[in-house]
Amino acid sequence: MLRIRGRRLLACTASRTVLLLQDSGPRHYCSGPLGARDKVPGGRAYFTTPIFYVNAAPHIGHLYSALLADALCRRHRLLRVPGAAATRFSTGTDEHGLKIQQAAVAMGLAPAELCDRVSAQFQQLFQEAGIASTDFIRTTEGRHRVAVQHFWEVLRARGLLYKGLYEGWYCASDECFLPEAKVTRQQGPAGEACPVSLESGHPVSWTREENYIFRLSQFREPLLRWLRGDPQAISPETFHNIVLQWLEEELPDLSVSRRSSQLHWGIPVPGDDSQTIYVWLDALVNYLTVIGYPDATFKSWWPSTSHVIGKDILKFHAIYWPALLMGAGMSPPHRIYVHSHWTVCGQKMSKSLGNVVDPRTCLDRYTVDGFRYFLLRQGVPNWDCDYYDEKVVKLLDSELADALGGLLNRCTAKRINPFGIYPAFSPACFPSQPGGVEPSVRAQAEDYALVRAVSSLPKQVADYYDNFQIYKALEAVSSCVRQTNGFVQRHAPWKLTWESPADAPWLGTVLHVAMECLRVFGTLLQPVTPTLADKLLSRLGVSATERGLGDLSFLSRFYGHPCPFEGRTLGPETGLLFPRLDQSRAWMVKAHRT
Ligand code: MSP
Repeated sequence: MLRIRGRRLLACTASRTVLLLQDSGPRHYCSGPLGARDKVPGGRAYFTTPIFYVNAAPHIGHLYSALLADALCRRHRLLRVPGAAATRFSTGTDEHGLKIQQAAVAMGLAPAELCDRVSAQFQQLFQEAGIASTDFIRTTEGRHRVAVQHFWEVLRARGLLYKGLYEGWYCASDECFLPEAKVTRQQGPAGEACPVSLESGHPVSWTREENYIFRLSQFREPLLRWLRGDPQAISPETFHNIVLQWLEEELPDLSVSRRSSQLHWGIPVPGDDSQTIYVWLDALVNYLTVIGYPDATFKSWWPSTSHVIGKDILKFHAIYWPALLMGAGMSPPHRIYVHSHWTVCGQKMSKSLGNVVDPRTCLDRYTVDGFRYFLLRQGVPNWDCDYYDEKVVKLLDSELADALGGLLNRCTAKRINPFGIYPAFSPACFPSQPGGVEPSVRAQAEDYALVRAVSSLPKQVADYYDNFQIYKALEAVSSCVRQTNGFVQRHAPWKLTWESPADAPWLGTVLHVAMECLRVFGTLLQPVTPTLADKLLSRLGVSATERGLGDLSFLSRFYGHPCPFEGRTLGPETGLLFPRLDQSRAWMVKAHRT
């Protein structure tokens, strides 16, 4: 580490030197032992989405971030842990900073007007998409300003802020400082070389100003200890390892304010109006504002927090945020779930390419549940996913309309189930031990495989959710739906009759088993397709209090226990579970012609 006149030189770049001059101040941070989780009373859980920039309208990538958090939160609610207090789920809009200030100028609007307009679009989209958040925060609210300024004061009082000269690149689109190694040159319109961010391709500009600086460098070791001690802190594991790798390198201090003359659209530094608080510090504190910080009541929700974020904002959430929290004497968040991005026909989504997919159009075309299912079934957190319309139609038609809808229809259609009931299960036809030779036994080896598969499905799905692999949970459900259709096909209940004393118990058993499978699928699908799952479970006659994940008891008659559904009258017929889309593809043909 080089030193200049008793101060530490924190970062060097190839062509210029970035000086973060640090005075000597107190070096204490973090009140408790790192990595020790504060136990939050009552098993509370607090889920968050990132807060969204309001420089442009929402796209499907934003909706995907929100849907992942929504599914995690809905699932948590369905666990109905005895004695567990309510779940909290926050989302919102990130409204300060240079990016928004510049966007407002470009549109000829006052920043507040732009924020109101776009924030309302996010709120409307999330309402339409069934994002069941409990809180929506806007960083321009008064309560947030109080929280951010208080947080700042805590850091200052703990000696973690100092004034220094920052000189280096700043990327307004990404709202971040970049070292020279992360900057490249791209040809501008007049053939000139324009400096851009290597990662995002967004333009960067050289900045040299005196700012407040956070002693981030002091947190390298505590961050490493936290992550090494908690391998589940960041999921998927690839991203956990990426952060550990970043921490192997030097961690320079972080500039956390900008000159107000440059950036007026933000929260002023307490006691120094000439400086505005860096938008990322401002934005990250939203997670505390929502739960009432600085009022002590926030402690009933912190740190049992799960943040869902995109990979582009990993460093802010996995390094800056935990360090800031430790600096303020708090624990890092419980879990950080990271996802990758959606591209469109192989290209990054961008306004300039004109390929931004409007999520509201998709919700209209594919239905809310259809589009939720598509994004969560196809989105793989580890890799970027490509979007195109044909893929949506193909997936929804085959998995929701044909396989799941078809299965429900097969079990409940009047022709096959004329009494409209959940029929009885016959242990004589389907004994719990395979290989029975009595004439009444009709179950085959594959049927036992189906029972095993669906019995283990809830646990499998739970594990996938825990590892942030919602797509795998849906894949597992879909595979069991296929297997159940195979079961029905194999035994062709339409060839059996209720009138025949030999057929009737087996016909009832086939329908009972298929309905039990459907009940499990419907229950497990609730976090992803809440309306469709409600329709399915209502049709099966499953009441609202029987839909928790804790009391699934699949096929209890097979295991020798009573089944509360047996003999129950089905719910009313309400039409197809999910109508095929390919019949309504005229819009696609039209869109391709124009
Ligand atoms: N305002 C910051 C977050 C502050 S959180 C304290 C921000 N906003 S954003 O609007 O740019 O992005 C919000 C979320 O949308 C991020 O998680 C980001 O990864 C996600 N997505 C943006 N484009 C995306 C895709 N193309 N695909 C999937 N998600 C994408 O960053």
